[in-house]
Amino acid sequence: MKPLVIYYSYRGNTKSIVDMIQKKIDADVLRIETVVPYSTNYNQVVNQGQDEVNRGYCPKLKPVDINLDQYDTIILGTPVWWYTFAPAMHTFLKSQNWKGKTVYPFATNGGWIGHTFEDFQSVCQGADVKKGINIRFDETTLRTSKKDIEKWIDAIH
Ligand SMILES: Cc1cc2nc3c(=O)[nH]c(=O)nc-3n(C[C@H](O)[C@H](O)[C@H](O)COP(=O)(O)O)c2cc1C
Repeated sequence: MKPLVIYYSYRGNTKSIVDMIQKKIDADVLRIETVVPYSTNYNQVVNQGQDEVNRGYCPKLKPVDINLDQYDTIILGTPVWWYTFAPAMHTFLKSQNWKGKTVYPFATNGGWIGHTFEDFQSVCQGADVKKGINIRFDETTLRTSKKDIEKWIDAIH
């Protein structure tokens, strides 16, 4: 059974890690997107994101054609927004049944991972949530070594 990669990416860092995963393993990939797009003004999104995270707001997502029953192993990728996963990922996580799944989370961020991985554990009820990998970017420059990321990808099964 192929693994499934589900990710959200606002400005492309998380997507670039998904591209690395796809080069190494044969996986299906699903990008989640909000119905209402975020502004292209980064600072505005930083503020809006803070408000959304604080309120536990879950934005509506564009419909996705996916049935998690077809997958045992799911890789989840998100940017860190205000010390947790992005609200779009929150919406997706809450909408699915995680029982019996094996989950490999990764989070791209600028150095403040916060409680992102603990939050994956608590939302993906019933899943075996593996230790996540914290992937650092300075703005759009990757700072975590590619070797470490590849090692993490190689351990996915
Ligand atoms: C709304 C918002 C909140 C953010 N909050 C954090 C944070 O709490 N900690 C952190 O290290 N980086 C934070 N960042 C930086 C992003 O996590 C980082 O740039 C990430 O790699 C972006 O991924 P993307 O290009 O896939 O959207 C934030 C960025 C945005 C837009």
